[in-house]
Amino acid sequence: MTDPTLRVLLSAGQIRERIAELGKQITVDYPGETLQLICILKGACFFLADLARAIERDIRVDFMGISSYGKGKTSSGEVRVTKDLDISLEDSHVLVVEDIVDSGVTLNYLIHLLEQRRPKSIRIAALLDKPDRRLRPVHVSYVGFKIPDEFVVGFGLDYAEKYRNLNDICVLEEPVKAPAAAETVI
Ligand code: IMP
Ligand code: MG
Repeated sequence: MTDPTLRVLLSAGQIRERIAELGKQITVDYPGETLQLICILKGACFFLADLARAIERDIRVDFMGISSYGKGKTSSGEVRVTKDLDISLEDSHVLVVEDIVDSGVTLNYLIHLLEQRRPKSIRIAALLDKPDRRLRPVHVSYVGFKIPDEFVVGFGLDYAEKYRNLNDICVLEEPVKAPAAAETVI
């Protein structure tokens, strides 16, 4: 990778191994059950694709669109459902699949919303967790990696819709500023 603003935090290999472990754990935790996976668009669809194949149970998949971020790096704090589920959750074991838990605002809102639909159980799997940034409480049953308070991209995560297709998860560093014109010695 040649982009100087990207620093690898988690390699594709580390991510693959950790998702396999999560899949095994989830398989053990839901003996003989059908699991309804809910992928939170758009970032989590890469994680969902790998996690679903690591779970050795009957699964179903549905998608939900939630937006709490604008085009920048900070949350607007306002949660909006942009695409609702196609299926009912009544009497289902639900596993919400999310890319990253940051402030917790999105998942705190979403879990309250989905609980009203009377699932048999509801849990969260998140590939990444930034615990230092939490503003609202969220219980995440399956965490891939706890990471420091840095803005990351890749493996589904974006900055203004860019970088989702990176295989690694990278910290997006601020570009190095060019010296001011007045300081430049000619
Ligand atoms: P929360 O509501 O603050 O927990 O935000 C969760 C959502 O914010 C995630 O699903 C991501 O879409 C986005 N997000 C939070 N942190 C990052 C990051 O470091 N990189 C990319 N997206 C992020
Ligand atoms: Mg997201």
